[in-house]
Amino acid sequence: MASKADLIVGIQWGDEGKGKIVDLLAQKYDFVIRYQGGHNAGHTIVIDGKKYALHLIPSGVLNPSAVNIIGNGVVIYPDALIDEALQFGDLTNRLFISQNAHLILDYHIALDQAKEKSLGDKKIGTTGRGIGPAYADKISRAGVRLGDLADQKSAVETILSRYDQHGLTPPAKAKIASDVARWSEKLLPFAADTTKMLWDALDANKKALLEGAQGTLLDVDHGTYPFVTSSNTIASGACSGAGLSPKEIGKVIGIVKAYCTRVGNGPFAAEQSNDIGDKLRENGEEFGTSTGRARRCGWFDAPLAKFACRINGVDELALMKLDVFDGFDEIKICVDYDDGKPVYKSFAGWDKIAKARSFDDLPKTARNYVAALEELTGVKIALISTGADRNDTIYR
Ligand code: IMP
Repeated sequence: MASKADLIVGIQWGDEGKGKIVDLLAQKYDFVIRYQGGHNAGHTIVIDGKKYALHLIPSGVLNPSAVNIIGNGVVIYPDALIDEALQFGDLTNRLFISQNAHLILDYHIALDQAKEKSLGDKKIGTTGRGIGPAYADKISRAGVRLGDLADQKSAVETILSRYDQHGLTPPAKAKIASDVARWSEKLLPFAADTTKMLWDALDANKKALLEGAQGTLLDVDHGTYPFVTSSNTIASGACSGAGLSPKEIGKVIGIVKAYCTRVGNGPFAAEQSNDIGDKLRENGEEFGTSTGRARRCGWFDAPLAKFACRINGVDELALMKLDVFDGFDEIKICVDYDDGKPVYKSFAGWDKIAKARSFDDLPKTARNYVAALEELTGVKIALISTGADRNDTIYR
């Protein structure tokens, strides 16, 4: 019987700690697949104290026997991928890239940054990586796909014409030609029909894990528009972004942080622009993996988490960074809204749970907090993370 692909999805505004979970789970999967986003993502994985920051390559790369797929729904900045791949040596037969994935070109980055500048105070606070303009070109049928690099001459002409269409001064043709030649040489060996590859894998009963980037509340359709990213970050994005039918999605694991963070602008009702937010940022090292920006921090927002669990069909939750509350006397959860204002419920804090490895080791107050989150979201918390290392994990 064919198997189904399990899925990891962020429940908040990204940065929930998906990298750690995918890395833990990747040990058990034959295939790990990215299906949307680009190098705006930053997944941090810590193994034996060594930190790896992944932006485009699926987190399965740290499991030597996993095959990693960058699906058609991802947008790729070629040189970012080439540089990132260098840290892992030879990836032949361990990395495949959809020939239909669209490329982020330098002018997409220029357009992204220029638009943000022109918006002034109203800017989105993008990562400035060209994500929006690259997806815009894809949707308006003006994109360049990885497979297009096979005809280098034509790819150069297409890229030149795009500069023209956007009213931008192109770089010298020789520069574009040398870029295209480098990208072809370095990336085309990994190009494949990854949809077919995935179907074959599932038909052969292999285990596949879909790795979502960003989070539900940044989804272009269901997030806090216009303060969103430009892809469908929710579970359904995995179907279009990897070439799977909804019937081929198996278990959906939602990743949720014990509190909320957000990078960039946009609504965040439970934000704490005060000592509490500062303490969360400091304890949780809440600075962007991709951009180094300080993240906005606040209490857990239960109504939003419940919404996210529903829209993704979450089967179980992984609760990340519970130890960041170590030393808090009081912890609050936004349990409802009254006229747009958060209504909080207060919980007693705890001294220290960092590195706890069994649920019974947790103080009663921490167990109460976990139980409240389960009750408010209606979803079981199957895993609790109490530190950055692979081993600082409680399985229930
Ligand atoms: P863009 O994806 O660079 O266009 O940025 C759009 C919004 O999504 C901004 O608020 C970014 O801060 C946010 N964003 C994009 N990628 C990530 C991520 O990986 N983690 C958290 N926020 C992100």
